[in-house]
Amino acid sequence: MVFKLAVLTIALAAFAGAANYKRVTCPDGVNTATHEACCAFFSLRDDLQTNLFEGECGEDVHESLRLTFHDGVSFSKSGAFKGDGADGSILLFGNIETNFSENLGTDDGVDALAPFLTRHLVTAGDLIQFAAATGLANCPGAPRLQFLVGRPNATIPAEDGAIPGPADTVDTILSRFADAGFTSNEVIHLLASHSVARSDTIVPDHQAVPFDSTPFNFDTQFFLEVLLKGTAVPFNRTTPNTVGGEVDSPLASEGEMRLQSDFALARDPRTACEWQSMVDNQFLMMENFRTAMMKLSVVGQDTRKLVDCSELIPEPKPAVKLHATFPAGTSRFEVQQTCRAPFPVLRTDPGKATTIPECPDGDVNLADCPS
Ligand code: HEM
Ligand SMILES: *[C@@H]1O[C@H](CO)[C@@H](O)[C@H](O)[C@H]1NC(C)=O
Ligand SMILES: *[C@@H]1O[C@H](CO)[C@@H](O)[C@H](O)[C@H]1NC(C)=O
Ligand SMILES: *[C@@H]1O[C@H](CO)[C@@H](O)[C@H](O)[C@H]1NC(C)=O
Repeated sequence: MVFKLAVLTIALAAFAGAANYKRVTCPDGVNTATHEACCAFFSLRDDLQTNLFEGECGEDVHESLRLTFHDGVSFSKSGAFKGDGADGSILLFGNIETNFSENLGTDDGVDALAPFLTRHLVTAGDLIQFAAATGLANCPGAPRLQFLVGRPNATIPAEDGAIPGPADTVDTILSRFADAGFTSNEVIHLLASHSVARSDTIVPDHQAVPFDSTPFNFDTQFFLEVLLKGTAVPFNRTTPNTVGGEVDSPLASEGEMRLQSDFALARDPRTACEWQSMVDNQFLMMENFRTAMMKLSVVGQDTRKLVDCSELIPEPKPAVKLHATFPAGTSRFEVQQTCRAPFPVLRTDPGKATTIPECPDGDVNLADCPS
């Protein structure tokens, strides 16, 4: 009975929603939207794309995307940490939160987004999610993320210790994510974000070192390359320079680096098959990431109070590399496979060892890098 009533209520709500479906004209007199709450995001979108991202999948997009993790995973179901999840606290209490050791480097993203909070009438939590979803659309192969509006401004900062770090064990990472509301599969799905990622805090001299050979494309190279046997750390260093946060990468001389956490999650019996399933499966990776991001973007929020403004998110650039390939000089013999499912059959890139262009910091994409 209760069940039937619930179904009826949902059906009625859907009907009412459809019946009331009409577009509102925004105060700018130009744009129309499904809900007036979406209106503020038209000018924000233009401002971000023109003045921060420059239409590219560069450093500022990567940093904005990273903020969704460092804002959202501060939440704790058990009450171990006081943070309110995807509430923008990392922006509003940036001086506190960017100083936590696991948040190293997030000050760049916070500094980049702060002016947009002053210029636009939006909350900090909405800004982070909107910047990430809009910026990600500049990355070829990215999914079009959902975007909901209405997260209240954070009232308290997150607590130190809630965000897992690259030196953590798989146990620690999975249990912290579980306490924030995520399954182990969802953790692996979220790590598709590391397909468009570089580190500039773990290596010396703040050089931006990519996690895979295609850091400006949202493709499955990351899931493949993390499974390859590591040989060294980049820049002729003899040992990793953070306490367990970095391990050998397969393309160190080409300037690729690897996080210990990614290495361990790719091989752990609990997560290895989920990891491997995304190697060479662009559409699965996109869909997994889109779904997991729907959850990360609303951690700690009452979704009944949020308004769907996904229509504001641009259609992402199409994938430029639909199939993963072994970087030149590597092959299936270097795959450290722990999942029993058959490994996809992949081509190897011809020629000498892959070169990953070294780009200066800032808003660069692959096309701008010196070859
Ligand atoms: C097991 C959990 C995770 C760990 C331990 C981890 C760790 C790291 C580390 C150490 C960096 C390098 C930061 C730097 O040195 O500049 C990084 C970069 C990045 N992470 Fe994660 N991460 C995790 C999960 C996530 C999630 C869930 C997301 C988003 C959904 C994310 C998005 C990113 C992005 C986009 C970058 C690149 C930033 C840039 O290029 O400037 N990470 N991550
Ligand atoms: C940042 O953290 C360090 C130690 O981790 C502490 O000594 C320092 O006071 C903190 N700074 C701020 C602004 O909170
Ligand atoms: C949220 O905080 C920002 C920064 O202080 C402010 O500009 C904005 O008006 C606040 N929004 C709301 C709805 O309180
Ligand atoms: C690393 O060492 C090799 C051999 O000594 C040298 O050819 C190469 O230029 C070095 N690379 C860097 C980035 O210093």
